[in-house]
Amino acid sequence: MKYIIFNWKSYLNLKESENLSNIISKIKKSKNYKIISAPNNFFHLSLSKKFKANTFAAQNFDLDGRGASTGSLDISHLIENNIKYTLIGHSEMRSNHGENDKIIHKKLELSIENKLIPIVCIGESLKVYKSKKTKNFLNNQIKTIFKKSHMYEDIILAYEPLWSIGTGLTPDLSEINEICKFLSNILKKYSFKKINILYGGSVNLSNVSDILNLQFVDGVLVGSASTNSSFINYFK
Ligand code: 13P
Repeated sequence: MKYIIFNWKSYLNLKESENLSNIISKIKKSKNYKIISAPNNFFHLSLSKKFKANTFAAQNFDLDGRGASTGSLDISHLIENNIKYTLIGHSEMRSNHGENDKIIHKKLELSIENKLIPIVCIGESLKVYKSKKTKNFLNNQIKTIFKKSHMYEDIILAYEPLWSIGTGLTPDLSEINEICKFLSNILKKYSFKKINILYGGSVNLSNVSDILNLQFVDGVLVGSASTNSSFINYFK
């Protein structure tokens, strides 16, 4: 079974998110794919009420959410809206909202405490990639985000090279496979019940089947292509 996660970022309005959710609701549940959509955080209430059989993820939550915290989204608000998964540490949260691996570690612990399955995003810059230090960089990210002392349940780790997000560029298939294998080997040193490694960054109709066929890739995290109904219908 491969994870297919649609990150709709802030591309869509409510009506458009409903239309795509409707298409997803008509896709027969299969053994091959687990489809999860991450609509804009403000649409969860409406979408999760209307499409009860769909699985939704949050794009983010705030650490200081509950109480006197104007403008924040608390993890409890996700849970009461039947959200089962949450992205953590997406590169756009890192670059636009100053998130770092220490904050991401705290969010990871909080999501686990609250039984929300985390989809942790990591990835290197073009500079790191070009200097062939990707593995070292990712290893350091993992060391800060995960603690060896903790017993983790299901974990989804999304490898999203920063230089690949929204650019139309991707690493070679063999590179994606090798990095996903590397990540799954490092994570074996920690206590997880189940590890799933996803690839994200410029996944589209023309490359998705090759990427999903890679041995060490357990799914894809898709941004702009996933706002298109023809991409979603591929998983029918
Ligand atoms: P794109 O698929 O638009 O490159 O975005 C990837 C991404 O950021 C998914 O989280």
